Formats: sequence, C-alpha cells, structure tokens
Amino acid sequence: MKYDYRSGAVISPDAPADSLEAKAPYIDNGTSRRDPSRYYSKDFMQREWEDMWTRSWLIAGVSSDLRRPGAYFTFDIGGESILVVRTKEGAVNAFYNVCPHRGNRLVLNERGTLPAFSCSFHSWRFNHQGEALEITDRETFRPQTLQPCPSLTALACEEHAGLVFICMNPEPPPLEQAIGLPPEYLPTYEIDKMVVVRHISSEWAANWKIGVDAFYESYHLHAVHPETSEIMGDLQVQYDLYPNGASRMIVPFGQVSPRHHDQLSVNDGLKSMLASAGIDPDAFSGTAADVREALHRAKRARAEQLGLDYSKFTDYQLIDSWATGIFPNVQIGCHPEGVFLMRFLPHPQDPERFYYDNITMIRPSEVAGRQPPDWFGLPEGTDTSGNTRPATEHVPLGEPANLGLVLDQDSFLLPYQQKGVRSRGFKGAIFSEQEARLRHFHTELDRYLEGKK
Ligand code: FES
Ligand SMILES: [Fe+2]
Repeated sequence: MKYDYRSGAVISPDAPADSLEAKAPYIDNGTSRRDPSRYYSKDFMQREWEDMWTRSWLIAGVSSDLRRPGAYFTFDIGGESILVVRTKEGAVNAFYNVCPHRGNRLVLNERGTLPAFSCSFHSWRFNHQGEALEITDRETFRPQTLQPCPSLTALACEEHAGLVFICMNPEPPPLEQAIGLPPEYLPTYEIDKMVVVRHISSEWAANWKIGVDAFYESYHLHAVHPETSEIMGDLQVQYDLYPNGASRMIVPFGQVSPRHHDQLSVNDGLKSMLASAGIDPDAFSGTAADVREALHRAKRARAEQLGLDYSKFTDYQLIDSWATGIFPNVQIGCHPEGVFLMRFLPHPQDPERFYYDNITMIRPSEVAGRQPPDWFGLPEGTDTSGNTRPATEHVPLGEPANLGLVLDQDSFLLPYQQKGVRSRGFKGAIFSEQEARLRHFHTELDRYLEGKK
C-alpha cells in the first residue's frame, strides 16, 4: 500500500479548506522515541502534576449538569477536589473543595443543588460566591483571626460549547486558544443542548496516558476489535492535528475495512446501521460500497421530517465518528445525535492506575424518533428524556464495567501493555503515522514539562 504520511487518508478530498472536515495542515512532531518511564515513574507523575495538570485548562464537567441556580458538581483530579456551582446570575464559579476553617472537604456529594454549602465539621456556611455566610460562634474567635473574612479559594472557570473548564493556573491562557480546535468546531454539536444519560467511571490498571494512547488511534482495531472490520474503514481514518495538543480522527462508519475478506456483501453490521437510519436492510439493493451514501441521505431526509436542523453538518459528518481530542485528557466522540465524552483521570497516588470516565450525552428525546442509534450502546430502559440525571456508576478495578464489547476488549489489553512498558527490554514506543495523534499529545505534554507552556 502506498501511504503519504503527510496526508494519510482523507475522507472528503473536496472539502473546502475552511470547513471542519478539511484535512488540517501537516504538523511535524519528529520521529524520536520517549523514555517509557513516563508511564510508571512516580517522579514523572509528580512533574505532570506540578507542571501540567495544575497549569492547563481541564474539562471539569458539562453545562447540562448545572442547569438550575445552585446546581453544583465536584471534580476530583489528582489529590484535589474542585467544586463548581451555577450562581443565580447564571455564571459558573469554581472553588477548591476545602473548608478554610480546618481544611475539611466541604462538599462530599458528586452533584446536586444547594442554596449554600455547609461544612460537616463545624457548620460554617458559604454562598455560591465562596463568601462565608455563617461562622459558627463567631464571637469566640479573636477578631484578627477572621481578618480578612475567610472564604473559599476560587480558581478560573469558564464554559465553552456546553463544557465546563477549570484551570488551577492563576494566570490561565485564553480558553478557546488553549483548546486549539477551530472556534466553531465544538459549538456545531450543540452539546449545551444535550443531557447526560449514562455515566460510568471505571478504574483501570494502567497509566492515564496508556489510556489516551489507546483511544487516539484506529491502528489496533483489526487486532483488538476485529468485529469492527464489518463497519469501519480502519485504514481510511483521517488523522488531524491542531495547535496546543488538540487532534481529531475521523473514523468512517458504514464502510467495510479494506482488511476484511468480503468487500461487497451487505454484512450484518452494515444491515444494522441501515436499520438504525430507517432503511429496511432486506429491501436494500446496493452493495457494501453503497451503504455510506445511503446512510447520510436517509439521515438527512429523516432529520427534515422530524424538523431537526442538520444544516451545519456535512454529509459524512452525519455518519462518521469524529473522535476529537482536547489536551490533556479528554476525547469526545462527536455525532449529531449525541456525544461520548471520555476522560482519562490519573489516580491520585499510583501512576499505574487511572479512571476511565465515560459520559454519554444525547439530545433529549422530546421528538418522537429521536432515539440515539443502537450502536450508542445504551442499555434497555435508559431514560432518554433528559428529566433525570443518572448517578455516576463507579466500577472498581478488575470488575467488568459493562461498557460493551469494544471497551471490554481495551480494558483487558491495557494492563498487559502497562506491564510491558516497565520491562528492561522495552525502549520506548515507535509511532507510525496512524499514531500521529499520540506523538502530538506527548509532544505537547513535554512542552509543559520543559517549562515551555
Ligand atoms: S472545618 Fe469546616 S467548619 Fe470547621
Ligand atoms: Fe480500542
């Protein structure tokens, strides 16, 4: 196979240069191999904390979890817990989730709605601006101990495209610039109009970057997820790199992998995609090569019937997976019906553990027929009305996360890679251009660690 590593595969060669689908300009991140200790060393983990996690913007949660005034959530990262709250003026504020009195953790729940935050130790109370409303037995404090009046410690917090970002850096860079994607990229999906319908946080026995790496390429599909070869063009994936560590891969859906033995038959996987788009697979007269066209036509036609506005989406954007990486630790699988938001959260102490946080969001099903496609993998009976925000399901290490076959395959594999990167015989990852996003991610991380950010 001939492969131009500067362009790789391109989904729509005729896409206008300023469209979101266009192949992003080539970025050369070199060819070097990195010391594998970055995947297991405690010292490296500590440097990441000091130089990267506490300096970069991080996605703390989603705006739809903060609809009402007083709605809050907590976001745990490393050893920190951050409290994010919607004020009655509609702003979002973030504070370190710690009581200034004696350091008790202020809010213990993951999310909820409260008129004020009350500490469980001595009942000090704080408003949504972080100011002390009540200091119990105030007269028993000598006045100078309460000067200035104790308050919660705030940190930078901003919303963009339905996502809530925080930054522990007292001088954060401009958010949109830091995200690195074209400004209209995320807003196109209207994540602010979506609701969380499933949230699973499972613990995996690997470094968080082993997680990012695995989800940033489609090179492993043929080996780890062979069943995807019926419906995903794993060698036609378009890999795009953007500034500040952001990246994207467009995985073409409804296309048989060129590695698959049968390129013509409309296989079971394609049939199920046709059915999801409202096409009777038994009445479909084309071959496998006609499925993609049929899928986007059917989806657009149905959107018009249902009064959905798909005008901002290109044809293939309606059917392909636009897996979009935001540095350092988030990938969003973007689809017009909904998004899969995955976060790779480091364990607070152990560099060889991480939390895989998987949030499924959809447009609420207020319009009949607006159910997410089957391949969203939502369990039977999932409430898609948007009326109830499900609790986060926490899955301990070693227990099946019920994330579906594909993710179970990854969670089985990654601990073996974690063991392998510790071997004296391993000399650092060798990246192909199908793994350009991994190199891009590690290059950005190194910029932080080298003090260039
Ligand atoms: S530690 Fe919070 S009120 Fe004492
Ligand atoms: Fe995978």
